[in-house]
Amino acid sequence: MNLLMCGIIGYLGKGAAQESLIDGLKRLEYRGYDSAGVAFHEGNEFSMARETGRVKNLAESVHKKASSSSLGIAHTRWATHGAVTVSNTHPHMSQDGKFVMVHNGVIENFGTLKKFLAGKGISFVSETDSEVLCNLIAYHYSELPEGEDRFIDAVRSALPQCRGAYGIAVLCLDYPETMIGARRGSPLVVGLGEDANFIASDASAFVGRAKEAVFLNDGELAILKGNEFRISTMEGQETQAISHPVEQISEEVELGDYDSYMEKEIYEQPKALENTLRGRFGEDGTTAKLGGLEGHEDELRNLDRIIFVACGTARHACMVGEYLIEKLARVPVEVEHASEFRYRNSPKAGNSLVIAVSQSGETLDTLEAVREAKTKGLLTLGITNVVGSSLARETDGGVYQRVGPEIGVASTKAFSSQACLCAMLGLALGRMRDLSPTDGQAIVDGLNKLPKLVEEVLQKGDQIKELATKYSKAEHLLFLGRQSLYPVALEGALKLKEISYAHAEGYPAAELKHGPIALINPECPSVFIVEGTELSSKTIANMQEVKARKGPVLAIAPQSVEIPPEAADDIFRIPDAHEVIRPILANLPLQLFAYHFARLRGLDVDKPRNLAKSVTVE
Ligand code: G6P
Repeated sequence: MNLLMCGIIGYLGKGAAQESLIDGLKRLEYRGYDSAGVAFHEGNEFSMARETGRVKNLAESVHKKASSSSLGIAHTRWATHGAVTVSNTHPHMSQDGKFVMVHNGVIENFGTLKKFLAGKGISFVSETDSEVLCNLIAYHYSELPEGEDRFIDAVRSALPQCRGAYGIAVLCLDYPETMIGARRGSPLVVGLGEDANFIASDASAFVGRAKEAVFLNDGELAILKGNEFRISTMEGQETQAISHPVEQISEEVELGDYDSYMEKEIYEQPKALENTLRGRFGEDGTTAKLGGLEGHEDELRNLDRIIFVACGTARHACMVGEYLIEKLARVPVEVEHASEFRYRNSPKAGNSLVIAVSQSGETLDTLEAVREAKTKGLLTLGITNVVGSSLARETDGGVYQRVGPEIGVASTKAFSSQACLCAMLGLALGRMRDLSPTDGQAIVDGLNKLPKLVEEVLQKGDQIKELATKYSKAEHLLFLGRQSLYPVALEGALKLKEISYAHAEGYPAAELKHGPIALINPECPSVFIVEGTELSSKTIANMQEVKARKGPVLAIAPQSVEIPPEAADDIFRIPDAHEVIRPILANLPLQLFAYHFARLRGLDVDKPRNLAKSVTVE
């Protein structure tokens, strides 16, 4: 079986499709970069180019062939099963040469469909489920009478036979002016421009080329014909297309002077957080006002429990939220791996709220966790960065992060804004319960200072670069912190391992003695994140335990915390700040540490091996 995550883009317009498709693929590379391919409608045949490796390999071979076709589809692949080979690379062509198709998702019953088609004399050249679907469309086409709707009817006949998930774009040789897209489970968006229209996995693929974006719902088809388009259900009923402007994000996806998106996104954080915070405080300055929660006040006031569901970095932000919300609002909070929650029979305890946090809003396990929560009748809220994403559409309410597109695979600015929104949620819930106006005001003041303080920390980036240089030979590192800085330790370790491939683990500082201390030696540095509370002295004692065993210690500590010289080899200072923003400030040096550490090893921080930005398969 060939499970795909992948990015797709199709172009139908007046000019040559080639450049827009290759540029689009480059922007979709965050969805996978094992191999890439493109197909053009050339009048009486399809021309194809497919290459393993990065989109730049494909760009070179496409450039040499230079197609002038104004209708084409393209794909960048992330493979979980099935080798990374040219024959498994999309687009796939039907055996009769009449159809080409790109696919993001998985057709679970492709084995049965393949057998059925093989019985009709169709043979296959790849191991993919996608080639099966392409041939299934061709088969139905061959069975249908000639006519204007034959292409669309073939797609409509084939898709209901498929179990699983798909976002597809498909072309038919007999229709030189038509492209059809369809989705179920995998995202798909139509881009509308002056000279061309597009179908893509997300709007970043056609930024600068399309003015409006129309997001498809599950079970919908997009039919692009000439310069017109319509959206319909699988049964053929037209649905209303709601468009969103795309122009405003065009600059945000350009790299500018930065040499990677990760670096750019780290340094964007002061602006990004200003946007997250903007206009979200009550008039009396003692609480947070999150528009997406309006209408749910009674449910929120009477909550018995919050369950966060998320994956990866987003889950670490939820863990920060757990500490803050329990402290501010006195509501019991649990944080679940979305992939675990969706399969477990979590007992229904009183009024539970499920909050799903996902930068992309498309992580499959997170979406499935939401669906499971809804089946159990629980109220669901979403925190996501992507407007119109599946998460935004499927939850009962929610809050947008507003940090602009995050392209680097390793999440940075999204974490900061998610942790910030969790603090705001804690504040809002706290003020609905016991939190005093004075405490509320202090938190609002603290949050308002966040963008400025983030900027202050980032200005010391050179100091972190020196520290990363000093420790960059290490192959094993420990990250340690207590309370709301424990998730920061986890996040620091995750960031380092995902982009530098060094082995790193995050632990609660006191847990050191229950295992990890066995790893300590002069080659294994420990990064301690010191609280700046009454607990600081305990963490400093843990640092001394490491030093006593000849382990190098790097401390990240608030300005005013005194650290005896013998407790740390190096100290990076962050500003003193309110506890609700401390996790965000403490995480910044760890983002930069991972970034420089990986760059010093000559690695591509934006596209770490085996990873993808948005995991849309289980
Ligand atoms: C992938 C990415 C991570 C991200 C996680 C969750 O694993 O590599 O950086 O934290 O997915 O993504 P989401 O879009 O749901 O926040």
